[in-house]
Amino acid sequence: MSHQGDAIFVTGGAGFIGSAVVRHLLDETGAFVVNIDKLTYASSLTSIPQATPARYVLAHEDVCNGQALRALFDRYQPAAVMHLAAESHVDRSIDGPGEFIQTNVVGTFTLLQEALRHFRRLPEPRRRSFRFLHVSTDEVFGSLGEHGLFTEATAYAPNSPYSASKASSDHLVRAWVATYGLPALITNCSNNYGPYHFPEKLIPHMIIRGLAEESLPVYGDGRNVRDWLYVGDHARALRLVLERGRVGETYNVGGRNERSNLDVVEQICDALDRLHPGHGGGRRRLISFVADRPGHDRRYAIDASKLEGELGWRAEETFETGLEKTVRWYLANRTWWEALLRKGYAANRVGLGGMAASG
Ligand SMILES: NC(=O)c1ccc[n+]([C@@H]2O[C@H](COP(=O)([O-])OP(=O)(O)OC[C@H]3O[C@@H](n4cnc5c(N)ncnc54)[C@H](O)[C@@H]3O)[C@@H](O)[C@H]2O)c1
Repeated sequence: MSHQGDAIFVTGGAGFIGSAVVRHLLDETGAFVVNIDKLTYASSLTSIPQATPARYVLAHEDVCNGQALRALFDRYQPAAVMHLAAESHVDRSIDGPGEFIQTNVVGTFTLLQEALRHFRRLPEPRRRSFRFLHVSTDEVFGSLGEHGLFTEATAYAPNSPYSASKASSDHLVRAWVATYGLPALITNCSNNYGPYHFPEKLIPHMIIRGLAEESLPVYGDGRNVRDWLYVGDHARALRLVLERGRVGETYNVGGRNERSNLDVVEQICDALDRLHPGHGGGRRRLISFVADRPGHDRRYAIDASKLEGELGWRAEETFETGLEKTVRWYLANRTWWEALLRKGYAANRVGLGGMAASG
């Protein structure tokens, strides 16, 4: 098994993608995982059922806290860092961008500094194999027209406070490679979906509302297009880039699954009708259209051929198979998402542009 006995830091490991990465590392490698997470509203510690003290520890810390990070590096001497901690919800970034700048920009800077200090003190050959993987989004590239794909050479043009903060963090990582020789890599991924996705996000939100036969509000005309990737495929890609990617490179990750938001919601309705028939007839009748998100990017689509060609990665799920698995998971795991609903979160519409004080 790879990484036998190595400590790997995963920041944001209690979040949606971070927890999929932790589950993957625990299931498929011999690594000891240190999950560094501030445990914001978006986190859930029940997302890692296989966590045991022999292989996993939670470090309840903020990535902006350099002193705490330094103590963790000194204590665990990690072989790699996978950086996923972020404020990640675009709508929340519109209402309160401050937290996004703090965590995504200042937090990444702080982590880079402490990772560099650690890296410089490592003896060979551990120094040669150390890696820092920064996990980012395709939203840094802005919006596409009807045609074309984002490649690794596409110029950055972020439109939301969220994507601008992620773009800033990508630039910091790039500079830490070029200036200080930190062996870092960057991935830019399209929209993820799958099990353990926070109920506020489009797909789980629609599954949960559809299940209850409540109205299904779609932004604008529903024609905005996203390129969807099953979260387990993303976790595999991240491990591959960590182990075999070329230092200083960026890799786009995407599933070649472009769908309009309306298509996504219609497919959820059909899957629910099939797997859990409702009382009032087909659920497509519940779809309604509401005011669009300000600055709503029209289309994202990823060209993942560099990752596929260089590292041999392929998405295993199509959107149809992945969505079916996801709907089945939400039906079978009500206790997971009902607990989050009970904890309470901003179930009301956020992100219409009235700047609030928080992120
Ligand atoms: N969700 C997507 O579709 C998607 C797509 C591409 C890239 N990404 C990127 O992947 C990463 C993970 O996304 P996600 O959807 O799992 O996010 P998420 O919001 O589900 O989870 C984020 C996690 O980070 C933690 N966190 C937030 N601020 C922190 C801080 N200051 N210190 C320590 N921990 C903190 C939260 O508690 C949470 O557990 C992010 O960097 C995001 O930009 C997400």
